Amino acid sequence: MSEFLSQHPRTHTCNQLTKTESGNEVVLVGWVQGLRDHGGRRFIDLRDRYGITQIVFKPETDAKLHARAHELRSEWCIGVAGTVEDRIGNGGSPNLKLKTGEIEINANQLEVFSEAQALPFMVEDHIDTHEEKRLAHRILDLRRKPMQDNFALRHRVVQATRRYFDKNDFLEIETPMLVKYTPGGARNFLVPSRLVPKNFFALAESPQLFKQMFMMSGFDRYFQIVKCFRDEDLRGDRQPEFTQIDVEMSFVTEKDVQAMSEGLMVRIFQEALGVQLQTPLLRMTYDEAMDRYGCDKPDTRFGLEHIDLTSLLSDLQSGGVPLFEQTLANKGMIKAMVLPKAHELSRAELDKLEDVVKQLGGQGLGRAKVAESGTAWTQSPFAKVISAEAIKAINEKCLAKDGDVILMQMGRPKLVHTVLSGLRLHLGAKLGLISNGNQTTWNLLWITDFPLFEYDENQKTYAAAHHPFTSPKMGDENLLKENPGACYAKAYDLVINGNEIGGGSIRIHDPVVQAKVFDALGISKEAQEEKFGFFLKALCYGTPPHGGIAFGLDRLCMLLSGSQSIRDVIAFPKTQRGVDVLTGAPSPVDTKQLRELQIITLP
Ligand code: AMO
Repeated sequence: MSEFLSQHPRTHTCNQLTKTESGNEVVLVGWVQGLRDHGGRRFIDLRDRYGITQIVFKPETDAKLHARAHELRSEWCIGVAGTVEDRIGNGGSPNLKLKTGEIEINANQLEVFSEAQALPFMVEDHIDTHEEKRLAHRILDLRRKPMQDNFALRHRVVQATRRYFDKNDFLEIETPMLVKYTPGGARNFLVPSRLVPKNFFALAESPQLFKQMFMMSGFDRYFQIVKCFRDEDLRGDRQPEFTQIDVEMSFVTEKDVQAMSEGLMVRIFQEALGVQLQTPLLRMTYDEAMDRYGCDKPDTRFGLEHIDLTSLLSDLQSGGVPLFEQTLANKGMIKAMVLPKAHELSRAELDKLEDVVKQLGGQGLGRAKVAESGTAWTQSPFAKVISAEAIKAINEKCLAKDGDVILMQMGRPKLVHTVLSGLRLHLGAKLGLISNGNQTTWNLLWITDFPLFEYDENQKTYAAAHHPFTSPKMGDENLLKENPGACYAKAYDLVINGNEIGGGSIRIHDPVVQAKVFDALGISKEAQEEKFGFFLKALCYGTPPHGGIAFGLDRLCMLLSGSQSIRDVIAFPKTQRGVDVLTGAPSPVDTKQLRELQIITLP
């Protein structure tokens, strides 16, 4: 143990001292950030969580100490006692970027708490180090200011959330992590039970059923900041273990849940960023989002909206273009997007868009440059065959003028939407239409009226678009049997700048409707009883109408902090490969442990 701290307790942080304290004796602690010699003096920047203070070791103050200061290296953890001095008075110049930039500490005591080995990378704001290396040395990575700022922001978001819900009478109640495996949602992580051999728990993918049971228990308003686990393929905005702000309310409609959520967002943006959001937020139905942007989480910070040409070209008998004809014959769709002349791309750049399209799964990109006052197309494979009437009609429908380029996709709607919405985001970024870097624009948007089911072409079955506990729109429960694909849901997503930040719904509170939804999903009565029996039974004792939402806390913090990856707002995340490179998890376990669990692994 260091005697230093008992004799010299820390008096200030490294972001506190100014000229007002000149002449005071102070004690600072922290890490050595920078070292330099100047005019026979040794300077170090001392860093703690709060900021940086310059320390000076003068030979005239203490020659021995001055010599010892030369032994210090980056990231050594030290304590310093000394006198606050005016930098200008000392013949130096102020650093106006630092709050403490007008003073320095003339050190008269130095304690090395611990040394640091040669560093794998420097603790600096901007480093060009491979992420796996950063994660393997996470403590050094987390010392960097942008990371410290991210976690301070995350803390503010969490505290604002707790205060908000507490003020609004929500109870924070925990739910189990070790739960019964239920099919239909994300892939679960399984946990073998030792006490009940050959049986498994699942790690909760969300507290969905438990929070609904809280409503049945009469808790009325619940929230929880909760870890969820999903064994999914990972992307920049997905982790296998992530945190939700989970919410459920009784006796409410969609509007009530949305209004409560908007209040939360106002509070979070205010407290985390000092940004004042305007409410009510914009709303767009799922169908409109798909029509205009080809996706259910549109980035509405820029235009490049999609234009559906399907019915126009059908009226024009395909305008003489065989590819259009073929598409229409196969019940496909034809959609366009206009690249305005103002954002002109060279032919080579346009050619490169073909590669983007192929990466998105498309076969190619139809294109045409508008010319001759909107009566002709150039640079287009269709120009030779398409009728003059069709050129004029498409140009008019797209509001395309001379010099604009019309980009087209045709085929199965799902693919057309995937390709054209991906291309739209690519162009938005490439043409600088999204002010991503400084995040000054915040577009928050509700997407509403989702379909209740999605049809799985491969399995030839319906799957719940949200989850199977989502209520159909009023009246649509009559369609559950005959035409499930036509059912809409009382479901809503919160989208911020093109990211799905939250999703929720009004739930089914009638056991009969719940069973009908399970039927539509092709879950047999026996399977319903086996997997969801506990829940169907719980629904039978006076269930209040209820609904809720869950927000992805990590995703929200990623956006608010301007981070490019969700991993920059999670202290100890998994890599894209789904592993923890810091501790080396997952790892094999020995045969004895497996035997206890009655598990054998395949060779
Ligand atoms: P959902 O599955 O839409 O809804 O999840 C809610 C929000 O959680 C975030 N999210 C994720 N964040 C990081 N990594 C992941 N793997 C991940 N998966 C989801 C997203 C998403 O919008 N029980 C329902 C909510 C409800 O109906 O109340 C649910 O979990 O931001």
